[in-house]
Formats: sequence, C-alpha cells, structure tokens
Amino acid sequence: MTVPDLAVRKAAGEPLVMVTAYDATFARLVDDAGVDLILVGDSVATVVQGERTTLPVTLDEMAYHTRLVARGRPRALVVGDLPFGSYQTSPHQAVDSAVRLVKEGAEIVKLEGGLPMADAIDAIARVDIPVMAHLGLTPQSYHRMGGHRVQGRAEGTQAGGRDRLLADAKAVEAAGACAVVLEGIPSELAAEITGLLTVPTIGIGAGPACDGQVLVLHDVLGLSDRTFRFAKAYADLRSAVVDAVGRYAGDVRTRAFPTDAHSFH
Ligand code: KIV
Repeated sequence: MTVPDLAVRKAAGEPLVMVTAYDATFARLVDDAGVDLILVGDSVATVVQGERTTLPVTLDEMAYHTRLVARGRPRALVVGDLPFGSYQTSPHQAVDSAVRLVKEGAEIVKLEGGLPMADAIDAIARVDIPVMAHLGLTPQSYHRMGGHRVQGRAEGTQAGGRDRLLADAKAVEAAGACAVVLEGIPSELAAEITGLLTVPTIGIGAGPACDGQVLVLHDVLGLSDRTFRFAKAYADLRSAVVDAVGRYAGDVRTRAFPTDAHSFH
C-alpha cells in the first residue's frame, strides 16, 4: 500500500480496510490479515491506558506506540494519530508534531477537525506529510459535544451541524487531506460527503457508503468490556483470555503446571 493507492482504490470502488493497533505484535497480526491501513489511534488512551476519554494521551506516548507499530514492519500504511493539544495551537506546532510521528514510522498523520484545522492540514501537507482528517464525532471534542454523541443530525452551520460537516469535508479536502475519517454521523450524510469528495472517506459508525471502514482492534476481537452499536466483534477474545488465564491459575494451584517436561535438569 502507498498513499497514492488510496485515491486509486476510491476510483476503482474497492473498499479500504483500516484497523487500530498499538504495538508490534498486533501490527504484525493485523498485517498478516491483510488490512490496508493500521491506525495508531489515540483510542490507545481508552482501550490500553484505561482513560475515560482520549484527551489525556500525550505526543510522547503516541510517538512511542507509533514506533512499536512501525517496528512490526507492516505492509499496510501506518497512520499516526496526533493527540489532543499537539496541533491545535498553530500550524507550526502541527508540522512539528507530524514530523515527530513520521520520524517514529508514521506514513500518514491524522488529526481531528474541519474548517478550523484547514491551515494545520495545509501546513502539514506542504511539507509532504500525508494528512488524514477526522470529522463528525471527534472524540477530542468530548466536552463540546457533551459526550460521545452522533453528529450531523441537526441542520445548520454550528459545530456538529449537517451543513457545517459538509463545509468541513470540502475544506479539509481543499487543504490537502489525503483521506477523511467520518465518525458517528448519519449514513445518508456520510454517503453525500463520500460522493462530494475525490479523496476516500473511511467510516466508523457512518454507514456502508463510505470508501472504507475503520474499527478499534479491541472491538473487532471482542476484548472490550463494552459493546457499541457501530462495531462488530469477530471473536470473543475476552472470554478466551479469561478462560486461558483461569486454567493456568488452576494448574499452578493444583501443581499440574509445571511438569517435568517444562523443567531443566
Ligand atoms: O483513535 C482511534 O482509534 C480513531 C478511530 C476511532 C477512527 O480515531
């Protein structure tokens, strides 16, 4: 996969598959499964670090996880997520943060926001770092949205309004975004935006019309303790982990493990 392939895939009508990963082991596994893009998402804050929102994760921590994923040497494109506070201050700050993630192995950087982030996207794209935009339910806007709430249901140009999201989508494409994540918006609006843009849209909770889909790996694997309407678990690794570790604990307590076969002489 290369960045120019993204537009080729949209033109050919071939869906793009993106999934998150946060370390080398899972980067290799999802790459072996044949995904197109691996997102080192700031969702690491909630699914790995145990935070309630994505707001606390730092650029240093995102750099660390980007490095781990890149060490897995995937064929898939590595997308590094710019965390809250690492790009909003100025386009200069955005470029510095993007360069940091590229040095750790990101091939694309992702940031949240539309019109107000157009200058940041433009600045990053001008130094030849591919940028993915992220619109709709943007988890870094948790407090403005009043929680993780579906956006684009109401008409209007206010933040999260339908007309504003259409304007945001046009603005991020014009600023040079190579793809746009659409999260938590009505399917009809996602279809309209997908038809409007020449760059691919990648949806999560945005219906089937997007040019690709993204899910958080823990949701795909059934590792999360919560289920979400927009996600689908393709395995029940939560039960598998509890069962395996429970059996290991049982074997240790009954002295069934280790046996002589596991021992050195
Ligand atoms: O951080 C993340 O995992 C994301 C996806 C939900 C798109 O931004």
